[in-house]
Amino acid sequence: KPIFVLNGPNLNMLGKREPGIYGGKTLADVEQECAAVAAELGLTVEFRQSNHEGVLIDWMHEAGERASAVAINAGAFTHTSIALHDAIKAISVPVVELHISNVHAREEFRHHSMIAPACKGIICGFGTQSYVLALHALKTTIA
Ligand code: DQA
Repeated sequence: KPIFVLNGPNLNMLGKREPGIYGGKTLADVEQECAAVAAELGLTVEFRQSNHEGVLIDWMHEAGERASAVAINAGAFTHTSIALHDAIKAISVPVVELHISNVHAREEFRHHSMIAPACKGIICGFGTQSYVLALHALKTTIA
């Protein structure tokens, strides 16, 4: 089964969006890197992005049926979405929360994650390498 790599709001703007914080790579670049790393690890990934909370929730439910694990950068929904927390709780596959930036070194409103208690673990602050680290983390988790 594939690993779902799910991306939330505004991540389609990666590369153009606050490059001082998020870097210059586009989401397509990150997708390519994830595919390459997954291949090295003997995994496959399905990489998706949506700006809509309900779509991410539907994908989480789908992951419960079709995925071996999930890596999610939920963007700002991280800090607000009880519904995403509940969706993660509703499935039995491991979910890793990831962030490009170190959310704890930024504004106070980014310090709390609604989804963290429902996740297996969290990776943040390593730039777009956070995605690669999440795949490695999930590889050892599902092994
Ligand atoms: C983010 C951090 C969030 O606080 C922010 O809302 C994002 C991106 C990150 O990857 O660093 O959209 O999840």
